[in-house]
Amino acid sequence: MAAPRPQKHLLLPLLVSLLLAASSPRGADAWGKEGHIMTCKIAERYLSEDAKAAVQELLPASAGGELSTMCPWADTMRFRYHWASPLHYANTPNVCNFKSSRDCHNNKHVQKMCVVGAINNYTAQLLTYGDSPKSSWNLTESLMFLAHFVGDVHQPLHVAFEEDEGGNAIQVHWYRRKANLHHVWDVSIIDTVMKDFYNKDLDTMVNALHMNLTNGWSDDISHWENCENKRATCANDYAIESIGLSCHYAYKDVEQNITLGDDYYFTRYPVVEKRLAQGGIRLAMILNRIFDKKEADTTMPLYVQ
Ligand code: ADE
Ligand code: ZN
Ligand code: ZN
Repeated sequence: MAAPRPQKHLLLPLLVSLLLAASSPRGADAWGKEGHIMTCKIAERYLSEDAKAAVQELLPASAGGELSTMCPWADTMRFRYHWASPLHYANTPNVCNFKSSRDCHNNKHVQKMCVVGAINNYTAQLLTYGDSPKSSWNLTESLMFLAHFVGDVHQPLHVAFEEDEGGNAIQVHWYRRKANLHHVWDVSIIDTVMKDFYNKDLDTMVNALHMNLTNGWSDDISHWENCENKRATCANDYAIESIGLSCHYAYKDVEQNITLGDDYYFTRYPVVEKRLAQGGIRLAMILNRIFDKKEADTTMPLYVQ
């Protein structure tokens, strides 16, 4: 028997919503999937043996032993874990500096409910790994959240202006396609770079970022790993960097309905590449500090701000 045909009055709204979903990138709320996977693939290369072992133990079977496969997970949960939605970003009152006490809260003004608070919170939870009696936190989720949010805090527009929702409310064209500024930084720049330079292949791009880390950026890595408070996760500093990059690169020379093309692309994609690599190095550093038993014996324990 033929399948029942969808009724006409249902078909039209369905078509409209499908078209809207395809044309409006609003609601994408992090580096896209690719950005998160790349950040985590870089992190995986810098994990200590202890951290690797702990990560393997905590990963769900569906991860196939690779942290990177789980790094986009938190975005897929945004509708189920509604409370976690504000944890992906932080907004400033339209100024180019970030202050945790002023800017790290959800829309009910609960403090620490932002990306910086989330990184510190999930780090604190993971520090209970190996406790006896066993930690009461779901450390698998803590790890997947932490890996995701360290990526997010490095996307400049995840620490940006409240007024325009981190660029979500700024409509632009990315070359000939309609987009919003936030989506350009989450997805479009990365997609275009992959197409132009890396044969549309994620692993080729990760290898290139890794080459840069071992050559061009090698002198920078020790700076990236440090912050004023050497025992903290440094999430606050990453947020300060991001709002600076939002102002100097993402928002610069952008207005509603502008078309962004070569001039914007060629001056901004190096920033995106660097932030993906920095996110990876810093995620590895945080996980190494959490799980590295030898280091924990010889240095002060990680202090969470
Ligand atoms: N929603 C509101 N502000 C946001 C931001 N800065 N990043 C992502 N989603 C947001
Ligand atoms: Zn985003
Ligand atoms: Zn996110």
